[in-house]
Amino acid sequence: MTTQLSKKGEAWSARFSEPVSDLVKRYTASVFFDKRLAQFDIEGSLAHADMLAQQGIISREDHADIQRGMAQIQAEIASGQFEWLLDLEDVHLNIEKRLTELVGDAGKRLHTGRSRNDQVATDIRLFLRAAIDDISGLLRELRLALVDLAEQHAETILPGFTHMQVAQPITFGHHMLAYVEMFGRDSERMTDCRKRVNRLPLGAAALAGTTFPIDRERVAQTLGFEDVCRNSLDAVSDRDFAIEFCAAAALVMTHISRMSEELVIWMSPRVGFIDIADRFCTGSSIMPQKKNPDVPELARGKTGRVNGHLISLLTLMKGQPLAYNKDNQEDKEPLFDTVDTVTDTLRIFADMARGISVKADAMRAAALQGYATATDLADYLVKKGLPFRDAHEAVARAVRTCVDRGCDLGDLSLDELRAFSPLIENDIFGVLTLEGSVAARDHIGGTAPNQVRAAIQRVRKQLT
Ligand code: ARG
Repeated sequence: MTTQLSKKGEAWSARFSEPVSDLVKRYTASVFFDKRLAQFDIEGSLAHADMLAQQGIISREDHADIQRGMAQIQAEIASGQFEWLLDLEDVHLNIEKRLTELVGDAGKRLHTGRSRNDQVATDIRLFLRAAIDDISGLLRELRLALVDLAEQHAETILPGFTHMQVAQPITFGHHMLAYVEMFGRDSERMTDCRKRVNRLPLGAAALAGTTFPIDRERVAQTLGFEDVCRNSLDAVSDRDFAIEFCAAAALVMTHISRMSEELVIWMSPRVGFIDIADRFCTGSSIMPQKKNPDVPELARGKTGRVNGHLISLLTLMKGQPLAYNKDNQEDKEPLFDTVDTVTDTLRIFADMARGISVKADAMRAAALQGYATATDLADYLVKKGLPFRDAHEAVARAVRTCVDRGCDLGDLSLDELRAFSPLIENDIFGVLTLEGSVAARDHIGGTAPNQVRAAIQRVRKQLT
């Protein structure tokens, strides 16, 4: 037995009398996915080494050697020359081993006062913080694109639906602004989650802290963390910050999915409310007439995997006693895939929102077909003194007559309308138009073009 790294490179080999099988090695290794954390691992190591030197725990020379070695490793990784070894299990051991090859004993001293447990927790937090910043920027771009679309269509009328049935006329701008609100809350959730991600685990070491005179605040400051994790057991073991992120990401995808569902329906030739630029669609290998909204459909589908990752992480965490357990190695793939899915989806949607063309005539025709101004007629009667329930009843009778005749409320003559209530007068026709209907909903949060423009101003201010 030897106290050095064995030929298999296992750092703990002196304790073991037989090597693991190839299958177990593959089963327990994480390097093929966690090498993605390399830049953060190096950043964390450099901050740790700086602190060790500052505190006199390692020498200035060792510190300089570590910096030099890490610079070379960074270059090797960037150029694709770095050799990742399964035998070295994970990103941390691969980098440390290479450092030791390059600079000797200084490389072996880097791990003083540290464990892979606090190291990996730090890496993930650095990774996630950067991902959150990207996602926040993309949410902003998507909101800007939707606000621009809303502005172009502040007055474009389409039917609003409840239960998938024509309910009341609304403006397309108002409809887009509903998504702007959803993505605005998603953005707030990301910002809020970032605060809890942005705390430093390093210093917790394996689980109980370290006997060396470390300076955790210095490391936190170097790495841009807002605070240090206040309990070593918690710092190395909990992944609630990642779960919280996945929950926020699942909501982003839920909103994307709702929007996708609408885009798909609107683009169906049966509905024909919009067209989506060709670069987001594909054809059929057999049906030459087809132009399919693949991007929204896939985004709706990918929502399932993000929801799944949230459940994976919750389940991963729920059975773990304190402190670190190897279960936590399983946090990475779901987290990486969540970040990739949300990032790609938002980037594509921000672009696609600018490739939506609105077919205002089709929207208008649909709004004219479903008695969309029935509530306006009822409100009109209430304003003339009729109790709302009685007004509702009178209008229901009028709609029934229209259904029988196959016409809309606005097609009835004044006399025909007065048969349902003598309170109806000539001013009713302004109320029954689509423009009159939307313009009348003129309060904060209403669909009137005035309000849409005011809401756009408000959001634009927020986004600058
Ligand atoms: N690859 C491990 C992970 O992802 C690093 C920490 C390993 N720690 C340990 N004590 N086995 O969690």
